[in-house]
Amino acid sequence: MAKQRVLSGMRPTGRLHLGNYLGALDNWVKLQDEYECFFFIADWHALTTDYADTRELRANTREVAIDMLAAGIDPNRSTLFVQSAVPEHAELHLLFSMFIPVPWLERVPTYKEKQQEETTKDLSTYGFLGYPVLMAADILIYRAQAVPVGVDQVPHLEMTREIARRFNALYRPVFPEPQPKLTEVPKLLGTDGTKMSKSKGNILELGESPESITAKVRPMMTDPARKRRSDPGDPDVCPVFDYHRVFSPAAVQAEAARGCRTAGIGCLDCKAMLLEHLLPTLAPIRERRLELARDSARVDEILREGSKRAQQVAAATMAEVREAMRLN
Ligand code: TRP
Ligand code: SF4
Repeated sequence: MAKQRVLSGMRPTGRLHLGNYLGALDNWVKLQDEYECFFFIADWHALTTDYADTRELRANTREVAIDMLAAGIDPNRSTLFVQSAVPEHAELHLLFSMFIPVPWLERVPTYKEKQQEETTKDLSTYGFLGYPVLMAADILIYRAQAVPVGVDQVPHLEMTREIARRFNALYRPVFPEPQPKLTEVPKLLGTDGTKMSKSKGNILELGESPESITAKVRPMMTDPARKRRSDPGDPDVCPVFDYHRVFSPAAVQAEAARGCRTAGIGCLDCKAMLLEHLLPTLAPIRERRLELARDSARVDEILREGSKRAQQVAAATMAEVREAMRLN
C-alpha cells in the first residue's frame, strides 16, 4: 500500500528554539518512517507580516533549513523545500482567491486577534487576509492527506477543507480533504518561567553550546515558593521539572521529584541532573548543525533538489487544476 502523504511548513523565523523543536520538528522527524513527507520553509508566509523588511529573509530561511536537517529531517527520505521556489503555490492561491468569499477569511479567529496584537506593523493588507488561502494552496497542491500542526493552526486546516470542497464542487473533484495531525506539544516555558520568546531572551536555542545552555539553566526560574534550600518544593509548579519530564528518564524524574518535595536536594542539584540528560540530547543536533553551517553550498543544494522534486508534484496538480477550470 502506498504511504500516506504528509505535508507541513514552518515560517523562517531564524534559528529555532527548543520549543519549536519539541512543538513541531521532533514530530516531523518521527513521521518520516511512516509517511511520504513534504516539509517546507514558508518564506512567503513570513512576508504576510514582515513584508517591510526582508533583509533577514534569506539568512533566516537557511538557518531554519539547517535546524531541520540537523534535527534529523532526511533529504533522502523527505522532500525539503522552500515555498517561493515552487511558484505553482502562488498560481493555485490566485485561482482559489477567485471563489473564496472575503467574509470566510475575516471570520478566521487568528485574523483579528493577530491584527490587534500587532502594534508595530500594518496588517490590514490583502496578503495577510489571504494567509489561509496561501496555506490551503501549500497543502492542496501536494494533495496531502495529513498535516502535522499545533492546535493554533486547526482553523486554517478547516478553511483548507472548505476550499477543497468548494473547488471540487465548482469544477471537479481534484483535491482530497486533508486532516490535521495534532502535535502533542510538551509544556516548556522559557528560562524566566514565562512563555518562550526570542525577543524576551528566555529561550534555549537548538544548537546552542553546552556552556551557554548550562549558563542559562543554572539561574532558571523554579518553584517560586522554594526560597531556601531547606524549603520543600513542588515539582508540579516548577518550570525546570517540565524539562525533566521531557528529557530525563523516569527514574531520574522520580528521584528529582522526591528530592524536591523533601528538600533532600537543592535546585542546583536538580538542574545538574537535568543537564546530564538535556545536553546529550542536544549534542548530536549541535554537531550536525555546526557541520551544515560550515557547508552552506550543500544546504543550498539540498533545498534546490527538494524544491525541484516538490515542483514536479505541484506542476502535475496544476495541470489538472487548469484542465478542471478550462484554463488550458
Ligand atoms: N501557518 C503555519 C504556521 O505558522 C506555517 C504554514 C504555512 C503551514 N503553510 C503551511 C503549515 C502548510 C502546514 C501546512 O505554523
Ligand atoms: Fe524545581 Fe528541581 Fe528546584 Fe524542585 S528542586 S523547585 S523541581 S528545580
